[in-house]
Amino acid sequence: MKILVATQKPFAAAAVNGIKAIGEKAGHTVSFLEKYEGTAELVAAVADADALIVRSDKVTAEVVAAAKNLKIVVRAGAGFDNLDLEALSAAKVVAMNTPGQNSNAVAELALGLMVFMNRNQFTPGTGLELKGKTIGIQAYGNVGRLVGKLAMGFGMNVLAFDPYLKDEQIEATGAKVAASLEDLYSKSDFISLHIPATAETKGSIGYNLVSKMPKKGCLINTARKEVINEEELIKVLEERDDLRYVTDIAPDRNAEFAEKFGKRFFSTPKKMGAETAEANVNAGLAAANQICDFFATGNTRFQLNKF
Ligand code: 3PG
Repeated sequence: MKILVATQKPFAAAAVNGIKAIGEKAGHTVSFLEKYEGTAELVAAVADADALIVRSDKVTAEVVAAAKNLKIVVRAGAGFDNLDLEALSAAKVVAMNTPGQNSNAVAELALGLMVFMNRNQFTPGTGLELKGKTIGIQAYGNVGRLVGKLAMGFGMNVLAFDPYLKDEQIEATGAKVAASLEDLYSKSDFISLHIPATAETKGSIGYNLVSKMPKKGCLINTARKEVINEEELIKVLEERDDLRYVTDIAPDRNAEFAEKFGKRFFSTPKKMGAETAEANVNAGLAAANQICDFFATGNTRFQLNKF
């Protein structure tokens, strides 16, 4: 079988070598399309691929239509809003992700961003410590739980909200359960977002929630740009000159945020949550193994679509 690894943001060399070795050991050929410019290059490259590994690369209906031999696509990572599941299901292509494999990298970045913001973006001046502060974790999945664990290491109080979990599941980790989203925001010095971008969550973080945060509150986004209502967030940051926003995914209105809010705002130059050698290896090799296993035994663990 032909496995294509299409990554606009390439994997670290160790992951590239590992994916190649796993695929070839199982008798497949593995090719790489890295740092490509636009969909046209991907459309051309997938024409003869039986399997596809991507990161945040967009697997659109156009890509699926061009991939006549495609049987499986694995998103090496957690969020799969870049996959057109409807088109993949219609074409009977199995779609998977690799949940948990890059979570630690994202969680570490979230804590790093918190320290960075509490120390005036590493410029001179008096900062604040994390110890004794409360972090509210919105969505307590693989990343959210790790953020909670790391925050506890800093001596923070951890509060979580996740409508898909039972209170006991959250409490078993040492975190406290917020009664509602409003409760989470009103009690938390930091809010760390770990929700996926879905029809339900897109644009859901805005004025009503953020304005409830206590003085000097800081919103941390290592999830997705789309979950933020940028207009409303700008409004609340204008009204409350103590609030802060730090994000690993540049807002559409990045220049406006930067100009209006100075050191109260920071956006990483390029999404780097999962950009560690370890996370690349974990997610990339898991993707290669899932594909080889699928071809060898029909294993569909982690399948995201139904058809
Ligand atoms: C994910 O959903 O796994 C993360 O956002 C990482 O995305 P990336 O592979 O594009 O860095």
